[in-house]
Amino acid sequence: MAEIKQPSAMTQSTTNGAHPPGSEPGIAAERPPDAPSAHRPRYAHIVGWGHHVPGKVITNQELEQIVDTNDEWIRSRTGIAERHVAADPKETSASLAVAAARKALEVADVPASKIDLIICSTTTPEHIFPATACLIQDALGAHNAGAFDLSAACSGFVYGLAMARGHILAGDAEYVLVIGTETLSRIVDWTDRETCILFGDGAGAVLVAASEVPGGIMSVDLGSDGSGGNNLILPAGGSAMPTSLETVSSGMHYVKMDGKAVFRFATRVMASSTRKVLERAGYTTDEVDLVVPHQANIRIIQNSVLNQLKIPAEKVFVNLEKYGNTSTASIPIALCEAIEAGKLEPGYKVVFVGFGAGLTWAACAIDWRTPVEKPETGWWKNTRRQATYSAAAARSMWRRAVRWVYEVLPDPEAPGRDESREKTPAEAPVKESTPERVRE
Ligand code: ACO
Repeated sequence: MAEIKQPSAMTQSTTNGAHPPGSEPGIAAERPPDAPSAHRPRYAHIVGWGHHVPGKVITNQELEQIVDTNDEWIRSRTGIAERHVAADPKETSASLAVAAARKALEVADVPASKIDLIICSTTTPEHIFPATACLIQDALGAHNAGAFDLSAACSGFVYGLAMARGHILAGDAEYVLVIGTETLSRIVDWTDRETCILFGDGAGAVLVAASEVPGGIMSVDLGSDGSGGNNLILPAGGSAMPTSLETVSSGMHYVKMDGKAVFRFATRVMASSTRKVLERAGYTTDEVDLVVPHQANIRIIQNSVLNQLKIPAEKVFVNLEKYGNTSTASIPIALCEAIEAGKLEPGYKVVFVGFGAGLTWAACAIDWRTPVEKPETGWWKNTRRQATYSAAAARSMWRRAVRWVYEVLPDPEAPGRDESREKTPAEAPVKESTPERVRE
């Protein structure tokens, strides 16, 4: 793993609740290196990042052929010019996530076997269960990791970072993989011009690591207001409205949105949540070097971050013109592109802020310490990496084979069982749930 840079005395932050007890910057640096590990301060740093989007691009002009809209309206009302969509059925939320996660592990130079926890934020999981995070765990060969999905819509990635930080500061995990992944094109009504123009598909991942170097994720703010749940909702497919012929024929398995209500809510919480995390980290808005906001609509970013917080446009990273709103994937995708564009360096104070269905909102303030140069990738590292992917696939197949053997062997504890009887549909094993596409 790349060495996280110690902050100089000049750049150390003040604190008001942003650190675990007894771990204030300054005290940390003076603590003897042989202090028992339980008493040493811990910080949660992002040490790896990666993103992946499907190859197929749909431009505004192409949308003009599908619904009653036009390029000028979409650009001026949203800032979006095109979006990537998962046109290949093999591209799913898990397959995009695995590609992004592998890149994040590569940047961090950490093997999947070291991951303690995988948090997958998504509104388009592969299934209601099992968790998409578990399919990702299997494909990565992260055999020491716990895994769960997180549902907080577009705020989910920052919620995931908050969970990762909590596990690391509590001493429960050394490495947590946080992923935001979406295939929104699969739940968008392509005849509804008010929603289909907005969304795109993609995935972003970061590896969060424990470190004694002061810095990293300094403060978080998580919020929710369920009274606005109906403003942005996928009505059918859950226990409130199970899928039926009727729900499908009435399009209740598509996204429904009150755009104006979401817009008003978003502009309010983006500013207030950013203020909260800055205050908790002890930063002023002037000190912020980079804001990576949720990429939903350029007017929301202008109204909140630029106009209300008075943070200048050159400090706010925007890439929504290329991707549209990729929901929970938008912040990690933008983070990766900000790094590629040279907008981030060690010592920078960074804010991530998002909002989404729920309604939810979330922000975090980061004292960025990780070097951002692309790591060297020699043939040996590449070969070793490929070998670990193959080993993960082989391990997964072996475990399936063992399960299959147990399935076909007669159960010695059920001597009276009639083996010749044909299985009822309820008894028949469910078709493979981890599809090839995820493991490829
Ligand atoms: N093309 C052309 N005209 C359109 C389109 C379109 N695609 N969509 C709507 N219009 C029309 C409307 O019918 C309306 O016409 P009318 O005046 O004759 O009635 C007119 O344009 C204006 O419509 P508004 O809804 O007032 O447009 P608005 O400026 O509010 O922009 C938008 C709509 C872009 C949806 C905006 O409200 C918005 O971005 N809201 C936030 C949405 C959002 O961010 N959602 C994601 C949340 S994150 C998550 O959890 C996934």
